[in-house]
Amino acid sequence: MSFTVPDLTGDRPAQYRELVAQSEALVAGETDRVANAANLAALVFHALPDLNWVGFYFYDGRELVVGPFQGKPACIRIALGKGVCGTAADSRKTQLVPDVHAFDGHIACDGDTRSEIVVPLVRDGELIGVFDLDSPRPDRFDAIDQYGLEAVARVFLATH
Ligand code: SME
Repeated sequence: MSFTVPDLTGDRPAQYRELVAQSEALVAGETDRVANAANLAALVFHALPDLNWVGFYFYDGRELVVGPFQGKPACIRIALGKGVCGTAADSRKTQLVPDVHAFDGHIACDGDTRSEIVVPLVRDGELIGVFDLDSPRPDRFDAIDQYGLEAVARVFLATH
């Protein structure tokens, strides 16, 4: 099978609808968590502009551990409640951070990062991990991104 990353077209909500459809096609018939996380990170990293890190952290029952990603090497373990990722995991609410320097406790993995969004991955009340995107552009993410990326996260959660 070969899978290309076609250009997204239309307005931004339409682009996210396409991205979600591409995500569904990419994981169809596969239940392996690492395989699906790896391919989704690659798809999103290449499909959306102005990103320097896209990936997953998985909850091991104690803390978050880095999973498949695209970007520079990252912090391996993050305690619940720490940084943007740990805050998303702990609160189970998406964290939209327009300026990472203004976020108390932000963990700087890549010094280029200026803004960040982290979507918690929760299935049947159980914390699975987080889906994290970083951008070198301040204020890169808005409510349209949040809505779209939460939909991509649901595609991932439905696979296993
Ligand atoms: N900035 C994150 C850490 C993970 S990296 O961005 C990949 C945080 O504050 O939790």
